[in-house]
Amino acid sequence: MFNIIALSLLFLCNECLCDICEVCGCFTSNVGPIIDCHDRHLGTNEVLNFDLLTLDKHQSLNKLIFSKNNIVLLPLNELKHLKHLKGLDLSQNKLDNIHSDILKNLNELEDLDYSSNLLWDFDISVLSTASSLSKFNLSYNHMNNLEKSSKNVTTKLKVFDVSHNNLVDLNFLDVMPELEYLNLSFNKFTTLPVNSLLYMQHLKILHVNNNQLLSLNLQNLPLSLLELYTENNFINIISFQKSSIHTLNIQNNSISNICNNLTLLEELKKLNISGNFLSNFPEVFLKSLETLDVSFNNLTIIPETISIKNFPSLRIFKISGNHLKDIKIRSELNLEIFEVKFTKTFEKIDQETFLMLKEKKNSCINITISNNKKLSVIEENVFRHMNICSLDLSNNYFTHLPSKLFNINVYNKNVSNLKYLINLQGNPFICNCSLQWILNELVPKLYITNPNFLEDLR
Ligand SMILES: *[C@@H]1O[C@H](CO)[C@@H](O)[C@H](O)[C@H]1NC(C)=O
Ligand SMILES: *[C@@H]1O[C@H](CO)[C@@H](O)[C@H](O)[C@H]1NC(C)=O
Ligand SMILES: *[C@@H]1O[C@H](CO)[C@@H](O)[C@H](O)[C@H]1NC(C)=O
Ligand SMILES: *[C@@H]1O[C@H](CO)[C@@H](O)[C@H](O)[C@H]1NC(C)=O
Ligand SMILES: *[C@@H]1O[C@H](CO)[C@@H](O)[C@H](O)[C@H]1NC(C)=O
Ligand SMILES: *[C@@H]1O[C@H](CO)[C@@H](O)[C@H](O)[C@H]1NC(C)=O
Ligand SMILES: *[C@@H]1O[C@H](CO)[C@@H](O)[C@H](O)[C@H]1NC(C)=O
Ligand SMILES: *[C@@H]1O[C@H](CO)[C@@H](O)[C@H](O)[C@H]1NC(C)=O
Ligand SMILES: *[C@@H]1O[C@H](CO)[C@@H](O)[C@H](O)[C@H]1NC(C)=O
Ligand SMILES: *[C@@H]1O[C@H](CO)[C@@H](O)[C@H](O)[C@H]1NC(C)=O
Repeated sequence: MFNIIALSLLFLCNECLCDICEVCGCFTSNVGPIIDCHDRHLGTNEVLNFDLLTLDKHQSLNKLIFSKNNIVLLPLNELKHLKHLKGLDLSQNKLDNIHSDILKNLNELEDLDYSSNLLWDFDISVLSTASSLSKFNLSYNHMNNLEKSSKNVTTKLKVFDVSHNNLVDLNFLDVMPELEYLNLSFNKFTTLPVNSLLYMQHLKILHVNNNQLLSLNLQNLPLSLLELYTENNFINIISFQKSSIHTLNIQNNSISNICNNLTLLEELKKLNISGNFLSNFPEVFLKSLETLDVSFNNLTIIPETISIKNFPSLRIFKISGNHLKDIKIRSELNLEIFEVKFTKTFEKIDQETFLMLKEKKNSCINITISNNKKLSVIEENVFRHMNICSLDLSNNYFTHLPSKLFNINVYNKNVSNLKYLINLQGNPFICNCSLQWILNELVPKLYITNPNFLEDLR
């Protein structure tokens, strides 16, 4: 490996000082040479000592990686001559300043990574000189402000990651009208002002999770948006607007009510609203919704509104950690995954419970009912009408199980197809003769299909 690198650089550097390749990895890729000095204990002086200029003489350097070297000062004079450099990775150093010189001179730079440095603020106007920069990473710094010293600035940035800073103000966004991916997570935003994002007509993915937002109004967001991550804020008011969003994460907020106009999110495929205070779910129709997670809310029954009629595409439904009195499915539902975990408020699964639940057409269902510390009774045949792929009944409070429980469809099929799994571990079974069937019938089959499910099965 080293010989190949050495050979290829022999050609690159002729008789020049080539010591950078003795310390760093030097590669030729199809887009040009790449020098990787990640974590080489370089510090400032060593970087200065390399003759970067000669490296660039015969074939333009494409990418330079200086990450994790405790660099405090950049070798500006040398760097700025790497005219055709496309990627510069300066992450994980001790830089407290972005020199406009670098941007002014590296006219072809597309990808600049300054993440995990010591920047306190930054004048975004400087970017106007970096005409080809399309990806800029400023995450994990200490910025509480992005200044804009000159008014008339626009950039061609498509990806901007400013997560993990202390920003409060979005005034810098008008500089980046072409942005497609924006990461504002882990900052101190309390609001997304009306006009700050609305006109970013190319924005597809927006992360504003882990901030201090109090409300969320989709009317303030552009129509182009496809994925919105707003988890871990303090949102208690949410308002919807016609949009093409397909992924909405609003888990771990303070929402107690969702209004009917959620139905305006016509393209929505995934909705995660776990960790809020919902006590009901609105009557809405979402034709594309595939995944719905309403875990850790304040629901006492499984809402009737969650039905195949309202969500014809629903495949995955999770409703763990609520205050469910029972887990009866009250409307027809066809699913691939159904999950109820960590619920201390129901004790019994009776004949009625799952009559309205079955697998999706030409498929099978995975049911997880586990870690429900009071669940002690399950009546026979409750799964009989379903085509089950896997059944997880672990860590509940069952002392015994009716033998007819497992007269389920898949169970009667060819065991050696190993298509299904049954997990009964972590229940306080009392082993008397009525559980003998587990030993006689289930255990031998489990042993073939999945012996590790037997470890904690007593
Ligand atoms: C920015 O850098 C951080 C830390 O190195 C990394 O986790 C993140 O994925 C980068 N962002 C983008 C958009 O590549
Ligand atoms: C702003 O920039 C545009 C395009 O570069 C230019 O046409 C316009 O005159 C500039 N306006 C001012 C006030 O500098
Ligand atoms: C920020 O979000 C972008 C996608 O928009 C992602 O690529 C990047 O990894 C995220 N940054 C961090 C630090 O997670
Ligand atoms: C939920 O949000 C709170 C406050 O932002 C945070 O402390 C907590 O860790 C979050 N929980 C999860 C599961 O992310
Ligand atoms: C959505 O419904 C809420 C509450 O009913 C209402 O305040 C809001 O104006 C509605 N939004 C739209 C876009 O209709
Ligand atoms: C919803 O969010 C919670 C909390 O972040 C996470 O644990 C869960 O896996 C998510 N649900 C889905 C279906 O992705
Ligand atoms: C949760 O529900 C209970 C009873 O249904 C109610 O007393 C309580 O106020 C609700 N909590 C929230 C935050 O809505
Ligand atoms: C259902 O469980 C089986 C067995 O664990 C697994 O192979 C399959 O991928 C699961 N189905 C889904 C939709 O996750
Ligand atoms: C079970 O399936 C295996 C492999 O698919 C097949 O070889 C075997 O003949 C089947 N046995 C029965 C009883 O159908
Ligand atoms: C076995 O134990 C269960 C639960 O304690 C009890 O309902 C059942 O009657 C017992 N069966 C026999 C044969 O002792």
